[in-house]
Amino acid sequence: MVELREPPAAAHPASIQTPKEFGGLRQPASPLDWPDLDNLDHPAALQARIDRVPVWHHRYQLPGGVWTKGPFLPGDRLHRIGLPERLDGKTVLDVGAWDGFYTFECERRGAQVTSADTWNPEHLVTSEGYAIAHRVLKSRAKPVQVSVHDLDPAVHGRFDIVLFLGVLYHLTNPFEALQKLRAVTKHTLIVETASDMRLASTPALGFYPGSELENDNTNWFAPNARALEGMCRAAGFREAKLYWQMSLPKAIARAGYRLVRLGANPIKSFNRGRIVVHATV
Ligand SMILES: C[S@@+](CC[C@H](N)C(=O)[O-])C[C@H]1O[C@@H](n2cnc3c(N)ncnc32)[C@H](O)[C@@H]1O
Repeated sequence: MVELREPPAAAHPASIQTPKEFGGLRQPASPLDWPDLDNLDHPAALQARIDRVPVWHHRYQLPGGVWTKGPFLPGDRLHRIGLPERLDGKTVLDVGAWDGFYTFECERRGAQVTSADTWNPEHLVTSEGYAIAHRVLKSRAKPVQVSVHDLDPAVHGRFDIVLFLGVLYHLTNPFEALQKLRAVTKHTLIVETASDMRLASTPALGFYPGSELENDNTNWFAPNARALEGMCRAAGFREAKLYWQMSLPKAIARAGYRLVRLGANPIKSFNRGRIVVHATV
């Protein structure tokens, strides 16, 4: 994701109600309000509509065997986040939903889902792909254009399960975000994030004032597992536990591979990865 750096105040708009446009990308005021969403039953028509979306993030399969066009295959990583097999009768909030893979997967498992995202074209993110999938899947998920920082239980409700996947490291104030998430979580928050400082013996976060993490200047912080667990507890969750992290042998093998193939610093490679923490109320 490419983004212009903004001062923290501008990164947390109080509400997002007007259409936005940036560099040819636009986002309507209402996330589902995109043209040409009818008559997509034929796979060729659906494929042609998918092809017209300028930027996709998720690559997943829609009816008729048609695939969306993002670089990221979330289906391959689904096992890492530990979603219950069935979610019948549960409410789910998917924060940072983007193209909606996790939203529609939770719905498929029986949940009633709300999808929250800033869908900001300035960050090359829109809800066009979400709207197409929502239509062809006949989804009942409710999209809400809101920043995590503006979540309010009185306005948005409270949810049995809250997903916060791939968002934390993009925020200048991740701790405040966890506090906001605590207020809308009835049972479990699932956080998936970039991680750093695996070798540190204390809770620690990496801080990236430039594009030091994945060459992406929208990445600010990456915690180790102990830091993320501690932040969740400090934000008001009763318990927080690491659910997934690459195993030690695999992390060592990956660091060795990156050293040989890319000349990458093996300590840095070992320290960095992804983690998933489950925090309960
Ligand atoms: C790397 S993508 C992750 C998408 C998806 N959750 C996944 O894991 O594949 C980050 C998403 O977070 C959204 N996002 C960024 N800042 C946000 C904020 N303050 N509140 C809500 N969503 C935000 C972006 O618009 C984007 O859709």
